[in-house]
Amino acid sequence: MLLNIPGHSELRKIVVLNPKGGSGKTTIAINLAAYFAVGGRRTALMDFDPQGSTMRWARNRPQERPYIYSVAAFEHNPRVTRSFQLRMPPEIRQLIIDTPAALTAQRLTQFTRGAHAILVPVLSSDMDIHAVSQLMADLLLVAKVSRRMGRLGVIANRVRENTLAYRRLMRFLEALQIPIVTVLRDSQNYVHAAEQGLGIHELPHSQALKDVEAWAPLIGWVEQRMATALTARDLRSPLAAVGTPRPATEPSVRPDPDPREAALPPARTGDPPAGKS
Ligand SMILES: Nc1ncnc2c1ncn2[C@@H]1O[C@H](COP(=O)(O)OP(=O)(O)OP(=O)(O)O)[C@@H](O)[C@H]1O
Ligand SMILES: [Mg+2]
Repeated sequence: MLLNIPGHSELRKIVVLNPKGGSGKTTIAINLAAYFAVGGRRTALMDFDPQGSTMRWARNRPQERPYIYSVAAFEHNPRVTRSFQLRMPPEIRQLIIDTPAALTAQRLTQFTRGAHAILVPVLSSDMDIHAVSQLMADLLLVAKVSRRMGRLGVIANRVRENTLAYRRLMRFLEALQIPIVTVLRDSQNYVHAAEQGLGIHELPHSQALKDVEAWAPLIGWVEQRMATALTARDLRSPLAAVGTPRPATEPSVRPDPDPREAALPPARTGDPPAGKS
């Protein structure tokens, strides 16, 4: 099944995904939406996670805060067509999509097709690093997201710098040659903002300054992605494309090497044992 979100040519889709639970998908999605809304941009949020955390946040959002059009995409209403349910009002310019945990490799394709930016938040535990190596393999090989097209970016989330786990995560991500768009620290500001239906950009300036600064490179990367036209390859479903001739407009790209070749760099015995995690 393909996810066809009815939209218009100016609609930009930003997908936040990582099948590993608790990596920060909802946190990134709601903060990105709040950032755009605060900037006066017509923004939508779509929640595909049956847990409904994004929708709860949207419902909790104070009425006086800039409006975000929110869709509970995890609900299936038998009285309306799916495309009616997922339709976007014409004034919406950016759509941020929050996805559920435990997405299968095949379902990833539903979300990556036609997305201008694919953001993957990653925590730094061993289990998360191993899970993300499988995810990257699935994105590159099953969903056919090309590294060279630059749609894919990783966010190192809840990081405590100067820990062994942090250094291992950064080494691993660098080996994958996928951009690390930003590093977000573990901060209660995310928790407090979310509880109030706000993003960190809506907290008092002095309180959230450090976190707002960490978001600047992420915002810059997303803006750049939204200004970049998608290629025929980005729009095509790899499943539907089996046996389809390559469109003439598609730039010629060499296939990405198997990401599993970029194996997790072994922990160096020289790493100091000072890491706290
Ligand atoms: N940088 C951060 N600092 C502090 N807490 C964070 C940070 N990022 C996320 N959290 C908290 O971690 C928890 C999990 O985050 P979140 O719900 O965004 O993850 P998720 O990937 O959407 O989870 P799920 O897979 O269950 O949907 C939440 O309580 C959230 O407030
Ligand atoms: Mg979530």
